[in-house]
Amino acid sequence: MAVRSAAAAVAASNDGQHGTQHGTQHGAEEGEIVTTQPDTTALPAFGTVPAPVMVVAQTTDGVWGPARAQPVDELRIHPFAHALHYGTAGFEGLKAHRGVDGVVRLFRHDRNIERLRRTAQLLHLPLPPAELVDAAIREVVAANLDVTPPAPGALYVRPLLLGTEPNIGAAAAPSSDALLAVLASPVGDYFSGGGRALTLLIETDRPRTTPQFGEAKAGANYAQALTPTLEARARYGADQVLFAPDGEVQETGAANFLLLDDDRVVTRALDSTFLHGVTRDAVLTLARDLGYRVEERTVTVDELRTWDGEAALSGTAAVLAGVGRLVFGDDTVTLGDGGVGPTTTRLRDALQAIQRGEAADVHGWTEPVNG
Ligand code: PLP
Ligand code: COI
Repeated sequence: MAVRSAAAAVAASNDGQHGTQHGTQHGAEEGEIVTTQPDTTALPAFGTVPAPVMVVAQTTDGVWGPARAQPVDELRIHPFAHALHYGTAGFEGLKAHRGVDGVVRLFRHDRNIERLRRTAQLLHLPLPPAELVDAAIREVVAANLDVTPPAPGALYVRPLLLGTEPNIGAAAAPSSDALLAVLASPVGDYFSGGGRALTLLIETDRPRTTPQFGEAKAGANYAQALTPTLEARARYGADQVLFAPDGEVQETGAANFLLLDDDRVVTRALDSTFLHGVTRDAVLTLARDLGYRVEERTVTVDELRTWDGEAALSGTAAVLAGVGRLVFGDDTVTLGDGGVGPTTTRLRDALQAIQRGEAADVHGWTEPVNG
């Protein structure tokens, strides 16, 4: 796949064919006017365009060195590196949002740093100091401000952590060394089709991940979710799989799952089986602020079959995406009118208003980044 230039992608997103602007374009025919609607697909597919600067740090004999900004390019990794053979690879995902005032703000990146360190512990990798990751994230955003698109786009920040010890004998031993690369990419919607409601296949047989990696953001989890996800797409036209081993709902391959109605938001309580989403926490907090009752508890597949309300997926990439259909094998349940529900829209708007600096940040979630 060709790697597109971030500057070109963002120029495309700023040219009036994208974003919140409604405009008119003069078509090829004399006098013909084509009305342009907000088009969140003007940015290239999520994650396909690297921002020009990355920030890299690594350990020597297990001790972390400084984080250095450099042009995005191939990483030098020994072919014997632990991550390449034994899967000691983890990552994070967070966003910096350009507000209506032009200011670019990071959203709750302290939570992502905590979670990266949790993943590092579970992978038995040298623990990257929180201050090092914080500095690297700030630096990567500051260096890529020029390619940070306006809303609904954002700069997606992807810290990547790899075990680098060159030792193919270390199958049952941790990697003594690691590399942290903080990458960035100008992005639009993760789910194609703008704000359309998603279809989820309910999977009760196969787990998303092994029990000990549920709360790790390890690359291996995404590899494990691939077969069920590809099959769900091919057989049922589903967008995502909702993993519910033993009839208890956990999450999808790349986002947390919530049930909503006019009074409440219901989601699985935090435990070691799933990734503790930063967006999940923010949405629950905003729901409480707006007077919804929040229930963190077990959600069963039986409850899903009879749920008379909305459902949504929360995540950095997903934001708060509405779910319109749940597929239980041969049986499909349509939620509401099959579109994005009103509580989902209300909470998504509240979240994005804070991220974009349009609403008071009463919880102190955002931090401006200057060049
Ligand atoms: N669950 C999984 C498996 C994910 O990959 C993600 C995305 O990061 C989430 C949940 C949502 O987490 P967050 O809201 O922190 O992005
Ligand atoms: C995120 O939301 O940041 C994710 O990591 C999801 C995905 C792109 C894997």
